[in-house]
Amino acid sequence: MNIPWRVKSATFKLVDLFNAPRFLYFLQRHVTKRSRITQLGISDDWVRHGNTINKYKASCRVFEFGAGKNLAQNLYLSDIIGTQIVVDLNPMIDLDLVNTARRLLSEKCQLRSNEEIDSIKDLTYYGIDYRAPYDASDTDFEDSSIDSCISTNTLEHIPRESILEIFDELHRILKPGGIISAKIDYSDHYAHTDPSISLLNFLKFSETEWKLFNHNCHYQNRMRHYDFIQIFDKLGFKIVEEEATYDENKIPQEIADRFDTQPDTWAATSGYFVLMKDPIHHPFLKR
Ligand SMILES: C[S@@+](CC[C@H](N)C(=O)[O-])C[C@H]1O[C@@H](n2cnc3c(N)ncnc32)[C@H](O)[C@@H]1O
Repeated sequence: MNIPWRVKSATFKLVDLFNAPRFLYFLQRHVTKRSRITQLGISDDWVRHGNTINKYKASCRVFEFGAGKNLAQNLYLSDIIGTQIVVDLNPMIDLDLVNTARRLLSEKCQLRSNEEIDSIKDLTYYGIDYRAPYDASDTDFEDSSIDSCISTNTLEHIPRESILEIFDELHRILKPGGIISAKIDYSDHYAHTDPSISLLNFLKFSETEWKLFNHNCHYQNRMRHYDFIQIFDKLGFKIVEEEATYDENKIPQEIADRFDTQPDTWAATSGYFVLMKDPIHHPFLKR
């Protein structure tokens, strides 16, 4: 369903104002239908996480932050990962969606189990330990106790300060040589339901202007590929694989002019990183 982006932004503003995330979820499920699953393909992102985890032999204990509603990625990966500790700041999980995802995926690939998922506890059949509300920047895991971390289309929704805290914590809990496999969507998410605007439309606004359209229930930090590189480097991670993808080929001139002096990756619409914990270099933000 196409929605003019300013209408969508105004709706998010109301959701924030009335603190009504349930209303937003109702709209997504029954009006825009963006939270319904009628068909489910195996995402390239899940396959890539799986390949990375296998390549770096990091499949025993895996942490994911920003789980979302249907856990399709976690079900898909259940056959190759020992334990997935899957957390979300907000308890967004919808067990109906999880079961639909499970049923559709089981027609396409091997899952760890065929059990119905009637409760959070049943996720353990799939090696999934789901925790929410849970803040990835303040976990209760021992130092060096996690083999790898995965994150899909989540980092673009988290404020920069929180990202610093999360990666500081990930450095603490990852084993030396442990890895992070992260996919980030750098595009303006309003463009996903409004084809009249560029995938980079939000970059035309100043910080002050953007605050008028950016709302907590659908927060977008607008950070670019090079911003993430700077953070990962600062917090003691070695970038062992990196890819920037460019899906916008009609960039408005006013936006290109704004980013004239920045690294070319400003125009990337998505990015993928494999980071490795460098046990020597770490500035320890918290301690
Ligand atoms: C867009 S959703 C995730 C989508 C999901 N990964 C997927 O691929 O379908 C982003 C999620 O990140 C969660 N989140 C934001 N900050 C977080 C934090 N500090 N710790 C854990 N989860 C967080 C939000 O609650 C939200 O559910």
